[in-house]
Amino acid sequence: MSVTSYTYFDLQAVEPCRGDGSQVIPLLQVVQEKHGYVPEGAIREICEITGTPESDIFSVITFYKQFRLQPPGKYLIKVCDGTACHVMGASTLLDVLYDSLKIETGDTTADGLFTISPVACLGCCSLAPVIMVNDETFGGLTPQKVRVILNDYRKKG
Ligand code: FES
Repeated sequence: MSVTSYTYFDLQAVEPCRGDGSQVIPLLQVVQEKHGYVPEGAIREICEITGTPESDIFSVITFYKQFRLQPPGKYLIKVCDGTACHVMGASTLLDVLYDSLKIETGDTTADGLFTISPVACLGCCSLAPVIMVNDETFGGLTPQKVRVILNDYRKKG
């Protein structure tokens, strides 16, 4: 029985991806970009489209930190781990976030407010180290500044 529609993909658009395992990551990126995470139903559809077993798709998701299996919190904190930010202390900022929020990479705080997501270069290296909270960019950061930013967002709720 052939599929007549998908929930997460346009049937026509994914036709060239049919049976092509190399399309797993691009399709995961499409879903995550649109929904903020990769729902289980999307994994089933990617399996059907590309012929890749669901277990292999899960392995890809867990290997690449960019993918999430749960919806992000209200505030998605992207921590740049590009070269410039790394040299300027990005890992220290990450430690501050872990410590303050009591979560790890990819997790969301129990109140649903914050999710931490390390990312590659955010494109504003001269401001290193940089984080983004949703669409807002913060540069020249120190651990103290990160704590202030978190408190500001906590107050917003
Ligand atoms: S390395 Fe962080 S913004 Fe480029």
